[in-house]
Amino acid sequence: MKAILEKLANPGFDLEQVRSDFAYLEQDRPIIYLDNAATTQRPNQVIERMAHYYRYENGNPLRGAHCLGAAATEAMLASRIKVAQFIGSKSEREIIFTRNASESLNLIAYAWGLNNLQAGDQILITHMEHHSNFVNWQFVAQKTGAELSFIELTDDYQLDMQDYRNKISERTKIVAFTAASNVLGTMPDAAAIIRIAKEYNALTVVDAAQFVPHVKINVRELDCDFLAFSGHKMLGPMGIGVLYGKAKILEDMTPFLYGGEMIEYVEDYESTFAQLPYKFEAGTQNVGGMVGLAAAIEYLEDIGLEKIAAYETALADYCLAKLEELPYIEIYHPKQGARGPAIAFNVKDAHPHDVATILDYHGVAIRAGHHCTQPLHRYLGLNSTNRASLAFYNTKEEIDLFIEALKDVKDVMQIDI
Ligand SMILES: Cc1ncc(COP(=O)(O)O)c(C=O)c1O
Repeated sequence: MKAILEKLANPGFDLEQVRSDFAYLEQDRPIIYLDNAATTQRPNQVIERMAHYYRYENGNPLRGAHCLGAAATEAMLASRIKVAQFIGSKSEREIIFTRNASESLNLIAYAWGLNNLQAGDQILITHMEHHSNFVNWQFVAQKTGAELSFIELTDDYQLDMQDYRNKISERTKIVAFTAASNVLGTMPDAAAIIRIAKEYNALTVVDAAQFVPHVKINVRELDCDFLAFSGHKMLGPMGIGVLYGKAKILEDMTPFLYGGEMIEYVEDYESTFAQLPYKFEAGTQNVGGMVGLAAAIEYLEDIGLEKIAAYETALADYCLAKLEELPYIEIYHPKQGARGPAIAFNVKDAHPHDVATILDYHGVAIRAGHHCTQPLHRYLGLNSTNRASLAFYNTKEEIDLFIEALKDVKDVMQIDI
């Protein structure tokens, strides 16, 4: 605990300055926002960059011969390069902008899965996937006849690597897994999963929606084939997401959506398609969202993702230690291995929605429900859970107030433990 408290007292960045960048903290009633896995808050720098774009640079990208069309095209290119550099991609051609991680994962399912899988093939996913990396593969399995299989979890909420080795085979064509569970916080060994998949020539899909905001990623070192994430979970705006794909694989794929600016030539009965990345970006792009995402990346990089990860780990460890002191709390979070700052728990004998409502009365925002992971909850024998998910702008004092509010839940719900 001493090391944790020291880290929290010395985060390695100016926490006070950071908190002054978030307007939600200026409101009269202080909000203790612990729902960052659902969506983060945005710093003023992101909001101001977007406002600047809409005020001074707004045109239709790739379409206008005039200066504002060119400004929008330039803003789009600069944002794409920023994202490519942020995740270590070798070219901005490998960065497809989508609406969110869900759309990115659907794009792979529709444009690769439906065209490359058949009966006898296997799609391997895990029991801790968000519905966005689950229902899309169910759909592909139903349409193609491929078999959908699941890697089991251990008692410590880790991915069971032995079970993975047992299940993967020459039949496995795709391994799709989350790099960080939005419920358990589990961060499986993505590099090992990908290495093993390669032994069988299976493609790998990494759902990094809950990973990218917390830990530095490098897609070239990881050697994944696809990686998906959302802007709004990493300080950026809603409505912008990213699909990274290896250029060679993307080039061989048919488009997902058809229409404006994704074409090369359109004849009456057939068309040819634009080069990467535009082949996958039909219609007018969300340039305001792209510049907001680029500004969010700049903000994270200015602080430093290593510093962010170290501070968030200490804050999550502190929160876990405090939760463990309460005998009426059940925690669903790994004790070993890499973990993100999402902590699922239940208050014994209390419904998660009641807990969240009482906490809201205390100004504490957490999530209650199945968090878009019904199969995981069923697998764990749970109907629903509460989830506190932390970010680097949260503080030890906020965690203390959250714990005090939980004590009130015990009184209000008359829990006799
Ligand atoms: C692990 C994970 N994957 C995918 C998603 C989907 O993200 P979005 O709703 O932005 O598409 C989420 C959202 O909570 C998530 O937590």
